[in-house]
Amino acid sequence: MNKQTMTMRDNRTGEEYHYPILEGTRGPSVVDARSFFSDTGLFLYDPGFTSTASCDSEITFINGTKGELRYRGIPIETLATEHTYLETCYLLLHGHLPDARRLNEFDLELRHRAFLHEGLRNLFRAFPDNAHPMATLSAAVTALASFYGEHLVLETPDDYAAMAHRIIAKIPTLAAYAYRHSLGIPFIYPDIDLSFTENFLTMMRAYPGGKMHRTLQGERRIRDVEIQALDTIFTLHADHEQNASTTVVRSVASTGAHPYVAIASGIAALWGRAHGGANESVIAQLEQIGSVRHVEKFIARAKDKNDPFRLMGFGHRVYKNFDPRARILKQLQDQLRDELNLDTELMEIARRIETIALKDDYFIERKLYPNIDFYTGVILTALQIPRSMFTPIFVIGRTVGWVAQWIEFRHDPAAKIARPRQRYTGA
Ligand code: CMC
Repeated sequence: MNKQTMTMRDNRTGEEYHYPILEGTRGPSVVDARSFFSDTGLFLYDPGFTSTASCDSEITFINGTKGELRYRGIPIETLATEHTYLETCYLLLHGHLPDARRLNEFDLELRHRAFLHEGLRNLFRAFPDNAHPMATLSAAVTALASFYGEHLVLETPDDYAAMAHRIIAKIPTLAAYAYRHSLGIPFIYPDIDLSFTENFLTMMRAYPGGKMHRTLQGERRIRDVEIQALDTIFTLHADHEQNASTTVVRSVASTGAHPYVAIASGIAALWGRAHGGANESVIAQLEQIGSVRHVEKFIARAKDKNDPFRLMGFGHRVYKNFDPRARILKQLQDQLRDELNLDTELMEIARRIETIALKDDYFIERKLYPNIDFYTGVILTALQIPRSMFTPIFVIGRTVGWVAQWIEFRHDPAAKIARPRQRYTGA
């Protein structure tokens, strides 16, 4: 008997089936059950894919028990503290960090590709003034596919790179336009003199001509500390293996649709508050709690089985010890406390929730810890980013991950159209 197999026994018939166990380079091995249905006539039942590996991937590794996250083998702590977001993008796309020359070329290319076709600006007019930027952004990325029909057929590595670099460069512009449209204020063009992250902040905050807000004390410039904090936030969001939105991107890829439409679908999936939308919900919830005096009452509600209230920014499907991204952001938050005036009532409420929940049996038993979204909300608020832009910021960071996963899918010889089965319980 080959030891590198798993035997499944149907106790109704006594029939045994053997399946190969395939090893990965890190993390759990997988049972290759691809022939399970044709062998047994049965389906595997796994709602939410809690035990199902849907692909091979060499992009991102997570060990949820140890709180470990690596992009292309490099720990997230190293990337967040020693490298920029653009270096991280290059790493995710190419498998290795860039040298200085490659980084400069990549940076310059993104700066030049940040502009949108003028026709696309008209799209924004179709949306109501108070449209949520996530709705506008998802629609704008779908519309982008119509401007770049050539990306439906990608053959050479250069074709793939042009498609990937284009969407990564344009996403901040689209997000900034979606936001400015929601306020009814004029769009600001990208500035090729500015780095990726500073450019985004400028497109959100500047007046036409690129000037910043003026006060009697002078012009309010974007500070380095703000650029670095947002850059780190982008890095921490850059990829997260087979999460809900990435699974959507791969599923759309599996049908042969345009890559930007797959990414637009990822944006739609990310919007929900169980996923990327949690960062917006965290701040809404802190405001709803309103005072440190009310924290215990809301924690009691979160524990009550009959109350749908959940503590936003707590819990994770994979991390069952701590979320390493949250740990990095907590440190960043502590560093930024004075510089960004983080000592607000909201921060006080957040700290109280954290202190109580981390000692409470309900949260300990269920392994519920603060996740990345618990901290991004407070930091983004201090960066004067409006709440409706929190999830679009997640989108900006994650676009590279979605593209890298889309490309990997397209090169995977085992890739098949996504088509799960069901247990029929109807009439
Ligand atoms: N507050 C209170 N109870 C919770 C929470 C929470 N935030 N999260 C999970 N639970 C309880 C849940 O009620 C269940 O209890 P019981 O076993 O008694 O029925 C248990 O913990 C397991 O929860 P689950 O819903 O089965 O876990 P899941 O892995 O399916 O869901 C989650 C993971 C992130 C959707 C969930 O924890 C949640 O809704 N958290 C709040 C939203 C949030 O912060 N989302 C951001 C995730 S991180 C960013 C990203 O990568 O997208």
